[in-house]
Amino acid sequence: MRTAKRLNNLPTYVFAAIGNRVRELKAAGIDVIRCDIGSPDMAPPQPVVEAMCHAVQQADKHGYSSFYGSPPYRQAVAKYYRRRFSVELDPETQTLALIGSKEGIYHLPTAFIDPGTVVLTPDPGYATYRNAIPLVGGEMFSMPLREENGWLPDLAAIPADVLERARILWLNYPNNPTTAVAPFSFLEQAVAFARQHGILLAYDNPYCEVTWDGYVAPSVLQVPGAVDVAIEFNSFSKSYNMAGWRIGMVVGNQEAIAALARLKTNADTGIFQAIQDAAIVALDTKDGWLVERNETYRQRRQVVTDGLDRMGLSYTKSPATLYVWANLPAGAKSMDYTASLRDATGVSVCPGAALGPGGEGYVRITFCHPVDRLAEAMERWEKWMSGS
Ligand SMILES: Cc1ncc(COP(=O)(O)O)c(C=O)c1O
Repeated sequence: MRTAKRLNNLPTYVFAAIGNRVRELKAAGIDVIRCDIGSPDMAPPQPVVEAMCHAVQQADKHGYSSFYGSPPYRQAVAKYYRRRFSVELDPETQTLALIGSKEGIYHLPTAFIDPGTVVLTPDPGYATYRNAIPLVGGEMFSMPLREENGWLPDLAAIPADVLERARILWLNYPNNPTTAVAPFSFLEQAVAFARQHGILLAYDNPYCEVTWDGYVAPSVLQVPGAVDVAIEFNSFSKSYNMAGWRIGMVVGNQEAIAALARLKTNADTGIFQAIQDAAIVALDTKDGWLVERNETYRQRRQVVTDGLDRMGLSYTKSPATLYVWANLPAGAKSMDYTASLRDATGVSVCPGAALGPGGEGYVRITFCHPVDRLAEAMERWEKWMSGS
């Protein structure tokens, strides 16, 4: 059997690789605390679970569903964008269901990139922005995110010859992994930039409901005229603790949505109708549920940052996401550091370098565990650091 050469360009997905090592440690009897992947541990809102239970018992929910998302699902997405962001969307042409936002993110280059054209991606950044580019013969241009710039890319620093060939610009705030949030003025600047250079602005917003301390995350589509140049990916995974359900959405520019839909109709055959029905209920989740859930995250974050403070490791302050983005001791290599920490203590955190070369020197710590478990993780880490 011979696999295609292009497969060599496809890295082992970072969390698949970490997961393999974690399985080995668990098999050896080690109590592993996984603070590497961002998989919410809390339950979805109860009405969502009930809607799912009800839907699976209906005989008419088990056939193939619409390629694009059911009409009620797409209407619910449009209604959510109106209620949450005051953004008007045509459900038919400006919304599309995805099998989790990762699926759409991965497929976007196939719909937009010809050999020799370029995708602009943040470094560090979510790996899926990058991974499909070589498969379609595209080129990647990394936009460094730096602490001193508030983890925002310097769009003006992108060379003119790159811009001429650029087709997609990825942005993601609240940001994974740096946890930064962007001022609305930056979104305005990004929309103007995409318009000026004829680039599709692909804005990834899965953490827009995972916020606290009064911070309310915007949608890029709130920028006047953004729909001419932008699409926004969104997800139920983090907003409503539904990561395993695999449902998401892309909204915005009609032409871009049609391109992705054309690709998808050839690749998949819609999302289980019962999941779509439950997702409709999720989009109506009361603000109180989100406030309470987010308060739990805020308290958990505090446990992690208290531990980092004790160890003298600095981190980015943030009112959003499921992560703490922490600086390693000077000179430490994140892959080596996290592997040693994991193997010695069972505490698994994500090496910054796995999220792009710009992540070197940092680690990402996910707080998807109860506070006592996180406290234990931080204590183990602290002991290991102090050599005791
Ligand atoms: C920035 C970012 N985008 C997209 C996703 C994918 O989310 P999902 O496919 O579960 O909707 C993730 C998941 O961790 C993420 O961090």
